[in-house]
Formats: sequence, C-alpha cells, structure tokens
Amino acid sequence: MPNKKTSIPFVKTMEQEEKLKAVIDAHKGQTGAAIQVLQEAQNIFGYLPEEVQVLVAEGLGVPLTEVYGIASFYSQFTMEPKGKINIAVCMGTACYVRGAGDILDDISKHTCCKSGGITPDGKISIEATRCIGACGLAPVLTINNDVYGKLNRGEIESVIDRYIDEEAKKEAGI
Ligand code: FES
Repeated sequence: MPNKKTSIPFVKTMEQEEKLKAVIDAHKGQTGAAIQVLQEAQNIFGYLPEEVQVLVAEGLGVPLTEVYGIASFYSQFTMEPKGKINIAVCMGTACYVRGAGDILDDISKHTCCKSGGITPDGKISIEATRCIGACGLAPVLTINNDVYGKLNRGEIESVIDRYIDEEAKKEAGI
C-alpha cells in the first residue's frame, strides 16, 4: 500500500468519527458510495490520511486499495494535512508564464517548506494548484481564504511574514 505518512500525527475527535459513521451509514450500498463518502470525510477531517481511508473502507465493506485508488486519483482529494497557514500558488498557464514557478521556489525557501508539504510544526503548508479562475490577476496565490494577485517576487515574503506574525500572536493569546 503506497499510502504516505506525514510527520504530522493524525488526531481525530469523537465528534468527527461519529459524523463520518453517519455519512457512511447514509451511503452504504449505494453506487459510487466511496467517492461521496471520501468527499464528506475530507470536509470533516480536512484531508484523507490512511487512518481515515481505513475507516471508510471498513465502514463501506470495500477493499482499502479501492478507497486509496479513488483518494489518489481525483485531484480534489488530498492525503496531506494543511498547515494553519496554507499557501496555494496557482500554476495555471497565465500564472506560470508570469513567474509562478519562481514565486513558488521563493516561498519554499522562505518558509523552509516544500511544495506539496507541511512544516514539521504544522504551521505552514504549500501547494501548487490549477487555475483558480483569476487569470487577470496573474500571478495569483491564496493564503488560507485570501487571494493575492499581481504580486512581484519582492512583495511576497512580507505578506507571508504578516500571517506568521498573526499566527504567533494567536498562539501567545495576544
Ligand atoms: S492561471 Fe492562475 S488564475 Fe488562471
């Protein structure tokens, strides 16, 4: 089973597990149940680690390989957790030709986090995405739910540092 383990331990609450059980019960026996349950599971847990895939497979009574196959095939599913600061750099054509690749490299260096990865403390994650439909603002990136466009390489580090500072203040209760 080529399921990848991240350095961030998976932690679930009873409430999350109960929600997933209810979703499984609602879809069990239906055609295409696995994909629907995985979508709901990702909404509940934020991502689909192996532990969640096992719960889905056992709950639906289907092989884990089938669940893993779906989770790894469809791009809307992720098996990696997201950081408290999730940076998504659009690598669609319009953004790519305006330097999104260099921006992604700069961000990786600045945060010590690889594209598709998460820092060991779970604070920052970086992903490369497809076109998000804001090509007029290329190059575009999002940080959590905020969209930034027409950024140049020099501006990005200070934008990210603002989020890091805000996160540090939240943690310190300031
Ligand atoms: S290519 Fe980046 S928003 Fe469309």
